[in-house]
Amino acid sequence: MLSPELEKPTLTPAEAALAEEPKFEGGQVGHYQLTDQLAVTGLSRVYSGINERSGEIVAVKVPEDPISRKLILAETVLHLQNSGIPHVVTVDGYGLSNGAPFLATRLQEGGTLVSEIKSDEDTHKTSVIGELINELEHERDKTMAVQSGTEELIDVPALMEAKEAVVMEHLPDVKEELEAHEDLKSTEAIEVVVEAAKESGLDIDADSAMARELTLEVLKELPKEPVRPDEAKIIQLSRVLYGAADGLDALRKRGVTHRDVKPHNIGIDKQGNGKILDFGVATRRRAAGSNVFGTWAWMSPQAFTGDIHPTNDDFALAMVAYRSFTGEMPWRLQDDPEQQHRHMAETPVQHPSIVNPAIPGKLGDVVMLGLSRNADSRATAADQRDVYASMTA
Ligand SMILES: Nc1ncnc2c1ncn2[C@@H]1O[C@H](COP(=O)(O)OP(=O)(O)O)[C@@H](O)[C@H]1O
Ligand SMILES: [Mg+2]
Repeated sequence: MLSPELEKPTLTPAEAALAEEPKFEGGQVGHYQLTDQLAVTGLSRVYSGINERSGEIVAVKVPEDPISRKLILAETVLHLQNSGIPHVVTVDGYGLSNGAPFLATRLQEGGTLVSEIKSDEDTHKTSVIGELINELEHERDKTMAVQSGTEELIDVPALMEAKEAVVMEHLPDVKEELEAHEDLKSTEAIEVVVEAAKESGLDIDADSAMARELTLEVLKELPKEPVRPDEAKIIQLSRVLYGAADGLDALRKRGVTHRDVKPHNIGIDKQGNGKILDFGVATRRRAAGSNVFGTWAWMSPQAFTGDIHPTNDDFALAMVAYRSFTGEMPWRLQDDPEQQHRHMAETPVQHPSIVNPAIPGKLGDVVMLGLSRNADSRATAADQRDVYASMTA
């Protein structure tokens, strides 16, 4: 899964009993006329809307479930306590509609950083294919090492024939199927390829070495190189990240940890400036070993263990930067948070400027420093911001 879950707080039975489906009939919430649905996140629904009193264009967030009612209330309070920060989205209004809280913020016309890096999104998928190839090659090497000295494992002419059949007839379908999986495992890729082989009249056992070899051959036919942002795109992304870094620095000065820094929560205004969105799980608490909140794909090692500290946001910001500038994640996304945590501890990160030579050294360096495992030596949001400022000056 590419969008890992947010761990939800639990409701008391009384709260659960009280909670009913909120209704937002007639496209009206408070004095906001709703227009289009912008997002459904599982916790909330966000609509674009218009403030009927002022004409202001807004995004209206309404809860999807009882838990998010609580989150929206807490989010509203935190916004009111921390208003007027230039690179944090501005609240336009809030209230209750049919008993459920809503929060209206000024619409970010440029959408979020997700749409900005969307052009790289296919890229991410093709890079996943590249990683699958590595994985399958690695597995094959292991098998060969174990079986060395015994017979040749694969009937090569049969393999080539099978590959021809799949490539000639089914390659586009295979590609589409693989892209439909957001985070691909090699076993799934093998199933897709074996299915295509069956359709060509070749019955191959999905557990066989032949199936793995065939998958490897077929994957190699697919494009795998991610498209790296060029210099112009890097400058454009730096404007967005400048705003995000500045917003986070201002929040830290007020003692706030955002806890869910990711591209979906970085808005972009009409001028292309970044703004921090979504105080859904933001907090002024500091803690160690508390419940884990946030989105694990972007989390620091300390956030995985339930620490609440702004240095976790510094790390997530650097994760976002790495993803934005290189077109790929610094660590390959694992199947669950525990695996991800372990994988990050064991696997060194490639310097972004090596992955994408268009990334200036000082920018690559600060992103690397932002990804420090040790929170004390990590580049802060302010450190990261200063580099963005020099990039966009
Ligand atoms: N002010 C805004 N302007 C533009 N889009 C917004 C705005 N607020 C939210 N959104 C969109 O709605 C999505 C969900 O809003 P968010 O506050 O992040 O809710 P959640 O807490 O459920 O993640 C965002 O990722 C973004 O795409
Ligand atoms: Mg969000």
